[in-house]
Amino acid sequence: ESLKINQKEKLFGLHRKTTLTRSLAKPWGSGKARVGKQGAPNIVFLKTHKTGSSTVQNILFRAAERRSLAVAFPRYSYQFAYPERFSRDFVEDLPPGAAHFNLLCSHMRLEAGEVQAVVPSPSVFLTILRDPVRTFESVFHYYRNIVPAFQPLANHSRPLLAFLEASSQYYDAQDVSNGLARNPMTFDLGLNASQEVAPGSRWASELERLNQTFQLVMIAEHFDESLLLARELLGLDMEELLYVRLNVRHKEEAPLSKELVQKIQAWNWLDVQLYRFFQSIFWRKVEHYGYVRMKQELATFRALLQEAVGKCLAGEPVGPEVMADELRPWQPGSVTILGYNLRQNLTSDQYRDCFRMVLPELQYHAYLYYRQYGRDMRPLPTA
Ligand SMILES: *[C@@H]1O[C@H](CO)[C@@H](O)[C@H](O)[C@H]1NC(C)=O
Ligand SMILES: *[C@@H]1O[C@H](CO)[C@@H](O)[C@H](O)[C@H]1NC(C)=O
Ligand SMILES: *[C@@H]1O[C@H](CO)[C@@H](O)[C@H](O)[C@H]1NC(C)=O
Ligand SMILES: *[C@@H]1O[C@H](CO)[C@@H](O)[C@H](O)[C@H]1NC(C)=O
Repeated sequence: ESLKINQKEKLFGLHRKTTLTRSLAKPWGSGKARVGKQGAPNIVFLKTHKTGSSTVQNILFRAAERRSLAVAFPRYSYQFAYPERFSRDFVEDLPPGAAHFNLLCSHMRLEAGEVQAVVPSPSVFLTILRDPVRTFESVFHYYRNIVPAFQPLANHSRPLLAFLEASSQYYDAQDVSNGLARNPMTFDLGLNASQEVAPGSRWASELERLNQTFQLVMIAEHFDESLLLARELLGLDMEELLYVRLNVRHKEEAPLSKELVQKIQAWNWLDVQLYRFFQSIFWRKVEHYGYVRMKQELATFRALLQEAVGKCLAGEPVGPEVMADELRPWQPGSVTILGYNLRQNLTSDQYRDCFRMVLPELQYHAYLYYRQYGRDMRPLPTA
């Protein structure tokens, strides 16, 4: 059975259409969602925007499928009512037979107390941060037609520069739909992304509180090291960490000038501080893990990665027009998002593993939802 259905998703008023499949060749795992393997931790991954988080989510989706974990999905669509703050009311019911959820990893704006109300205690909290300059550039191009502050620049020849040179003209901090338009990572972490940071302000204690909430903040520029740290926390096998980069855009823009980099940093100054704070905590964790051990494991892991890529992929990432329907990532319209074709000659076991590794977010989400509940995702309620 490989029934194709259409689903719609609302993102800032935009309806997404995607082709989904209910069965991904050979099944994985034992079927019905259940409480995780004895001793395996429950996991919350805060999926930040344009930071490499889709790749992490795919790894977690695969672990969930293989281990038959109960996934906390949004009640509607693919996100927890983003950009609203997370509420327990946004979560779909527990699947029959599950005592509690084991994994929560869809887009949300963090409200830690509400998340803690839907996952068992203790659960491991993870997230990922990326260099704020790259993050903002990526957010800007991806959401150019969607975020209100960016929309007027749709036809501009140098839209990013134009935005940063006159941001007050475009940016209304009161409009929550502009959450990604300034300090997007700070916003996703639930903080006030347009706050003043002065001596005695709440900022320092907010960072400290995030450090207490998250056992690991991964750093996208050190993605493999981050995965190895996560592996220890989550008790995953190294093979379960294999990945290809998902949701990558085809870059048409020239590299950023030094001037533009400085403007992006100034505009996203909270994200710069957030990133620096967790970068230094990250390196302390690596030190604690052991540099020699990290170096050895990285070599092993990268050899496995290279082998997996060589086995699975027909070549470099490709544009949406030359891709199988079920492997085509959602396209925001403003940029081209690349995906992968698989080798033609895979055995059925190889196909099963490789297919999941390249499966885009929306398709994998809809598939896991169907597997967990035996029905399609709910349509969005009509307002
Ligand atoms: C951009 O150009 C398109 C096509 O010409 C037009 O429909 C749209 O209104 C323009 N957008 C803005 C913000 O100027
Ligand atoms: C965020 O901080 C700004 C500047 O300090 C303040 O004006 C604004 O009211 C704050 N917003 C919220 C929602 O607390
Ligand atoms: C972050 O939290 C850890 C664990 O509680 C603690 O050891 C560390 O000192 C904290 N780091 C900072 C910079 O606050
Ligand atoms: C598929 O083809 C590639 C390239 O021709 C080859 O290296 C690989 O071993 C083949 N795989 C299988 C399972 O036959």
